[in-house]
Amino acid sequence: QKLKIIDSTVSTQEEAKLLAEEDAPEGTLVIAEEQTGGKGRMGRKWYSPKGKGIWMSLVLRPKQPMHFMPQMTLMTGVAVCRAVRRTTGVMAGLKWPNDLLVNGRKISGILLESAAEDEYVRYCIAGIGISVNLDPQDYPQALTDVATSLKIEAGEEVDRVALIAAVLEEFEVLYALYQQEGFGPIASLWEALSVTLGKSVTVNTARGAVIGTAEKLDLSGALLVTTGEGQHESIFSGDVEL
Ligand code: BTN
Repeated sequence: QKLKIIDSTVSTQEEAKLLAEEDAPEGTLVIAEEQTGGKGRMGRKWYSPKGKGIWMSLVLRPKQPMHFMPQMTLMTGVAVCRAVRRTTGVMAGLKWPNDLLVNGRKISGILLESAAEDEYVRYCIAGIGISVNLDPQDYPQALTDVATSLKIEAGEEVDRVALIAAVLEEFEVLYALYQQEGFGPIASLWEALSVTLGKSVTVNTARGAVIGTAEKLDLSGALLVTTGEGQHESIFSGDVEL
């Protein structure tokens, strides 16, 4: 069974992991109407109200060492961004590493989790959350200034099924491109859709804040930042403030 649709679950990530552990093939997809414990990056929560969004997790089995996983995250972001633009006309942009923003507010996030065996990926779960048909009053207070939805931005309801299909189509094409030609073409596509590059940013990392201009991606998928002192720093993980 390659598609599992669930009414309510804690997190589609956990459902997908269970399937992956049971040898589910690459491309297995779990979609939920509602998540009661949706997860974001860095231990944050992902608000996933019933019937209002796309909350889904895709099982992947790339034959790659673990250090390529940041590239997979960026590739997934490109797929979601292209699908959103194509199906809704909303000109969403990418914020490194994996947020989709519209007018500075977040519309979608990606959480990639992977399991390793001898430094190689055993499986990876690409979790995609898209806030599709939420109305302003659906958001809890804490999110009203930082989050938006496709319905709010497009001014009309968006067909979730059509958008899921578009995300999967885009993903399939980009994944094939990535496997054939490596990260180079993906990095170019990502850069063209980015809202971070060329801007002054503060990147909060485990080692402290880095303040500078976001220049480009390097070949591993890290964000290159030039600081005021003209130093170049590669950021492998962190949070960008615009
Ligand atoms: C982030 O922006 O921090 C990532 C958010 C990822 C949310 C999606 S929704 C489907 C999947 N299941 C989860 O619990 N999280 C991801």
